[in-house]
Amino acid sequence: MSILKELKYSLKSIIKNAGYDVEDIIFATSSRKDLGDYQINDAMRLSKIYNENPRDIAEKIVNILKKDPRFINVNIAGPGFINLTLSPYFLQTALNQILDDFNLNIDKVPKKNIFMDYGGANVAKTLHVGHLRSANIGEAIKRLAKYLGLEVISDVHFGDIGRQSGMVISEIKKRYPTLAYFDENYTGNYEEIDFNITEEELGEIYPIASIAAKENKERMEEVVEITKELEEGNKAYTALWNKIKDISISDIKQVYKDINVVFDLYEGETDCYPYIPEVIDYLEKNNYLKESEDAQIMDVKEEQDTSPMPPLVVIKRNGGTLYATRDIATIYSRLKRFDINEIWYFADNRQALYFEQIFRAVKKSKLVPKDLKLEFFGFGTLNGEDKKPFKTRDGNVMSLKELIKILEEETTKRLNKDMVEEEKQQETAKKIAIAALKYADLIPYRETDYVFSPEKFTSLDGKTGPFLLYSTIRMKSLLEKASIKKYALKKFKNEIDRAPALLLLDFPQILTNCLEEKSLNELTDYIYKLTSSYNTFYNENKIIAETDEDLKESWIALTHLVYKTNMEILNILGINVPEKM
Ligand code: ARG
Repeated sequence: MSILKELKYSLKSIIKNAGYDVEDIIFATSSRKDLGDYQINDAMRLSKIYNENPRDIAEKIVNILKKDPRFINVNIAGPGFINLTLSPYFLQTALNQILDDFNLNIDKVPKKNIFMDYGGANVAKTLHVGHLRSANIGEAIKRLAKYLGLEVISDVHFGDIGRQSGMVISEIKKRYPTLAYFDENYTGNYEEIDFNITEEELGEIYPIASIAAKENKERMEEVVEITKELEEGNKAYTALWNKIKDISISDIKQVYKDINVVFDLYEGETDCYPYIPEVIDYLEKNNYLKESEDAQIMDVKEEQDTSPMPPLVVIKRNGGTLYATRDIATIYSRLKRFDINEIWYFADNRQALYFEQIFRAVKKSKLVPKDLKLEFFGFGTLNGEDKKPFKTRDGNVMSLKELIKILEEETTKRLNKDMVEEEKQQETAKKIAIAALKYADLIPYRETDYVFSPEKFTSLDGKTGPFLLYSTIRMKSLLEKASIKKYALKKFKNEIDRAPALLLLDFPQILTNCLEEKSLNELTDYIYKLTSSYNTFYNENKIIAETDEDLKESWIALTHLVYKTNMEILNILGINVPEKM
């Protein structure tokens, strides 16, 4: 258990011993550091329960705390707020314990098996900024969950079937009509057809086909027909689509790798196909499906609903499956194969209603056990300066690759070319650009929209990825220069070196809050505060040249702890630190 949590428990029992039977106490980091490090805000609440003056209650508690060697400057403010400050000895001992065992500054959570579904890139379609958010937030939450002791299996859930498949195949047919895939008299093996398409060409095919199909009715009919045949297992289309899938997926994987996103499973919507007959059969036999305009739908409305809850279409009019059918069968397949307590989905807020329908459908039909927890975590959009979803200058969706390129150009401009060897400059600029993007993306609360601002994101000052990388690298180089092997905190000089020390104790609570909220905003905020507070101390003092040996050693120890904490956080956020910058 973390030191601060232990302290909180011990304060709770002190209050209990003073005669107040409390379940939990309101123990918070103080915003008025001049009054104390922490506040206990229970006296007002207890006064109502025990019918006693809050100041008298506070007085009783304070009298005990004043004798406690862990605290100094215990005082009462206003109607009964208790302020207290940690004694230098207590604080320094706490930090030395963390130096010995970093686990003392982490509060693990009870073990559970989580299945995480994030990323969600679509095959043969451009990876866009919405996919960045899903991948970035999902990856960080996955790392955080594991860090705090949960077992996690992650799956990208590729969109590997649907209208886009028909579009792409119809466009390839138009460009290469003589290919054997389209020859009805072909009797050979479809897997052996010699056909290759570059990633570039594939990238331009979908948008072109999509426009063509929208403008031309016959073309759209062809697309629908091809999609249907593909779904029904047409051998020629399947072989062609598999080829396209391979090319597209290896490209998508490379982008994910660039942004430090890795999955345990790279499955797609079609991986549930073997389970679909079973699932549909079950739903039909148990009368969960009903016919509506030739489609099969499922009612998911509940009595207490206050907003519209449309039925879920499970089978299309032409008998084909939909995104929803595949999500239902995917849940079924995951539960068959893995031991799962909870499934977490990360997708755009606009899919919130859809997921609610899915969750209700599988619960209502008892396709999943009652106690399986299904949760959707939506996120806001990345907007342009006009506060609308970010687009390219010509109005197209901004691809993730383009986005990274813009930031790479911006970081290259600002790169300190004297610090980084020439052959490493490009790689370093890219690392910094990705850090800038990932960090900026995790600053707002998950559901909040934010504005893409390359200059701001890549700035070396302020709440940015580059600022954190730069500061963290500087800590590392100080530690290398100091070359002291064993160090401990022996004393503090003043409030300036004490400030980052105190902040370190907040780390476990911040992690717990972020996991609870499935949002990284508190953690991005915390690392910024910790780093700024450390930098203030760094700028005020000459650490290496300090002649008071105890002080110097203490400062190295402090640097070590802040550096280690920063590295742990950056790793959770999925941000790599370059050697130099
Ligand atoms: N491919 C989907 C999209 O681009 C996201 C997938 C989300 N996950 C899921 N199981 N439906 O919108």
